Amino acid sequence: MRPTLGVCYYPEHWPEDRWQLDAAMMSQAGISYVRVGEFAWSRLEPNPGQMHFDWLERAMDVLGEHGLKVILGTPTATPPRWMLDKYPDMLALDVEGRPRGFGSRRHYCFSHQGYLEESRRITRILAERFAGHPALGGWQTDNEFGCHLTVVSYSRAALAEFRNWLRRRYGSIERLNQAWGNVFWSMEYSHFDQIGLPNLTVTEANPAHSLDFRRFSSDQVVRFNRAQVEILKSARPDLPVIHNFMGRFTEFDHFDVGADLDVAGWDSYPLGFLDQSDNPSGHKLAYLRQGDPDFQAMHHDIYRSVCGGRWWVMEQQPGPVNWAPHNPDPLAGMVRLWSWEAFAHGAEVVSYFRWRQFHSAQEQMHAGLLRPDGAPAPALDEATQVASELRKVGISETCARARAAIVFDYESEWAWQIQPHAKGFSHSAQVRAAYVALRKRGVDIDILPKHAKSFEGYDLVVIPALFAWNDNLLAALRSFKGQVLVGPRSGSKTGDFTIPDSLAPGLPPELLDARVLRVDSSDAGLRVPVEGGGTVGHWRERLEASCDVLMTDDEGEAVLIVQGNLHYLGSTGDAAFMQRVLDGLLERAGIAALDLPEGVRARSRDGCRIYVNYSARPATIALAADESGYVLGGPELPPAGVTVARLSMGG
Ligand code: GAL
Repeated sequence: MRPTLGVCYYPEHWPEDRWQLDAAMMSQAGISYVRVGEFAWSRLEPNPGQMHFDWLERAMDVLGEHGLKVILGTPTATPPRWMLDKYPDMLALDVEGRPRGFGSRRHYCFSHQGYLEESRRITRILAERFAGHPALGGWQTDNEFGCHLTVVSYSRAALAEFRNWLRRRYGSIERLNQAWGNVFWSMEYSHFDQIGLPNLTVTEANPAHSLDFRRFSSDQVVRFNRAQVEILKSARPDLPVIHNFMGRFTEFDHFDVGADLDVAGWDSYPLGFLDQSDNPSGHKLAYLRQGDPDFQAMHHDIYRSVCGGRWWVMEQQPGPVNWAPHNPDPLAGMVRLWSWEAFAHGAEVVSYFRWRQFHSAQEQMHAGLLRPDGAPAPALDEATQVASELRKVGISETCARARAAIVFDYESEWAWQIQPHAKGFSHSAQVRAAYVALRKRGVDIDILPKHAKSFEGYDLVVIPALFAWNDNLLAALRSFKGQVLVGPRSGSKTGDFTIPDSLAPGLPPELLDARVLRVDSSDAGLRVPVEGGGTVGHWRERLEASCDVLMTDDEGEAVLIVQGNLHYLGSTGDAAFMQRVLDGLLERAGIAALDLPEGVRARSRDGCRIYVNYSARPATIALAADESGYVLGGPELPPAGVTVARLSMGG
C-alpha cells in the first residue's frame, strides 16, 4: 500500500458539532486513517449491557463523509468502573502482592478468566455493529500491551493458570524438578499445586522458575490478543488487525503476538524515550529536541519483522509529551523528519498521537496536531508538508531488503534480567550496540527472530547475547556462507536455564571450537584497553579456543576470535571498540559503508535512499556511488533536514 498518514482521534472528548470541522481539517492535511475508540468503553457501555453505540457510528459517518478510513480499537485497555464491581479480583497484583487499582488504565490481569470473557464480549458486539461500516479500514486490539509494566501479574488467577501451563510443559513433576534443578536447596515439589509464583521468596527464586513464569506471562498476552483477533477476523477477513506496540517494551514476546496480527503498529515518542533512557547526559543534551538518532530506527526495524513485513507507526509524537521526567519541545522540522524516517524503514502509515490536546486529566500537557483551543499546533503544518511530499516523491510500496541482520530475542532479554550477573547486562543493550555501529555506516539492517530458519540473502548476521540456541538457528548457521558475529554470553544456557555440558558458547566444534572457562564481571566503569583502540569491561569471558584470535585486550585476554566465517566476541566494549569490530565484519562481508556526518543517518526503500539529519547543526552529504540524483532536498541538510536520493540500480 502507498505510504500515507493517520491520526488518533477521540470524538468522545469533543462536542459533536465540532466533528465536521475536525474531519475536514484532517482530510485537508492529507490524512487518510483515523484511529478511534480504544479508550471509550465507559461511553460505549455506561452500565453493564446498556449499549450506546450510536455516537460512535455518527462519528464514523462524519469521518467517512470526508474520505477518511477508520481504525477501530477494542476498548479493553480501560475497563469501566462497573467492571470492578462485577470482578473485584480482576486486577493484576504487583511483585509485592498489591493490587494495581482503578483510576488510570490497564487495570486488569491477563489471566483473569472473567475479564477475558468480557473482552471477547465487547469485541464481538463491536465487530457485529461496525464490521459493515463503509468507513471501517481496520481494527486495533486493545492498546499497548505491557504499557506501565502490566504483563506480569502475581494474582491468584495467574497462579492457577501458571500451574496448568507448567503441567502442559513438563507433563510430570519429576521432569519439572529435573529441568529446574530443584535438588538444589531442597526445592523439590511432589505435585504441581505446590508450586507458587516466583515473588516474595526469601532471596532470589530459582532462575528457571522465574523464566518459566516470564514465558507463561508472555503467553497470556498472546492468548488475550488472539481471542480478539479471532472475532475481528471472522467479522471482516479482508481488513487488517493491528496492535500498537511500544518502544523498549520487552515484557512479552512480540513475535508471538505478531504471528496473529496482519500489521505491527508501534508508538514512537523520540523525545520521551531519550529523556527516560540511561544515555549519558551529554548525549541527552545533544539530541534533546531530536531524540536519539538510532532508537526509532531500531524499533522500526524490529516492528517490520514482528508481522513479517507490514508495519505502521500508530502513534507519532507531535510536540512535547507529558510522561517523561522532562518534556522538551521538538526542533522545528522533527515531526517531518520522524515521519520520513519511518517511511524510509518501510512504514505503510505514520499516524500522529493525537489530533487535539485535551484540556483535562492525565495527558493535558501532551501536545496534539491541534492546540487545546482547537487551533493548529506547529506539527499540523509539518504533517501537511509530509503528505504533499509523499505525493510528489511517490516512494515505492516496498522496503529494500537489507544485507545485514541482527537477531533480537525477547526470551534472552528476560533471562538476563533474571540473572544479570553483571548489573545492567542486557540482551537489548548488546543488540543496540551492534545496531548503532552498523547504522553509523549507513548500513540497512533487518531484525530477525531467534527462530529464523535461514540467513540466506544476507552477507552479515549478528547474534548478540543470545540466551540459548535452538535447532532452527543452528541449521541457519550451518548453511550460511556470509559473515557471522556471535556476541558475548550467547549460548551460555540451555533452554532449561542450565549451563550446557560443553560450556558456553555451546556451539558444535565444527562451527566454533571454543569454550568460556569463566566470566569476569565488573562495574560498567571498568575499561580495559584493546590493542588497536577501544576498551572492554563489564563482561569479560576467559576463552579457551583452538581457533584464530583477532583481538586481544591489554591484559592479554582474547576478545575476538574467528573460525571460518564465525566470529565470537567474548567481551562487552565501548562504542569505539564495537565500531572497530563491526567495521571489520562489514569489510569481510563486502558491504560498503556510507560516509555520514555526525548525526546523519540513512535508510533505503526500494529505489531511493532517505537521509535524515538528527544533529542540531547543518550537514553536507555527497552522492553515494549507487545514487543518481536527489528527489527531495539535496546535499545540504539543515538540522532536522530530510533528503531523498534516487538509487541508480533500483536499490
Ligand atoms: C501511548 C499511549 C497513548 C498515550 C500516549 C501519550 O503510550 O498508547 O494512549 O497515552 O502514550 O504519549
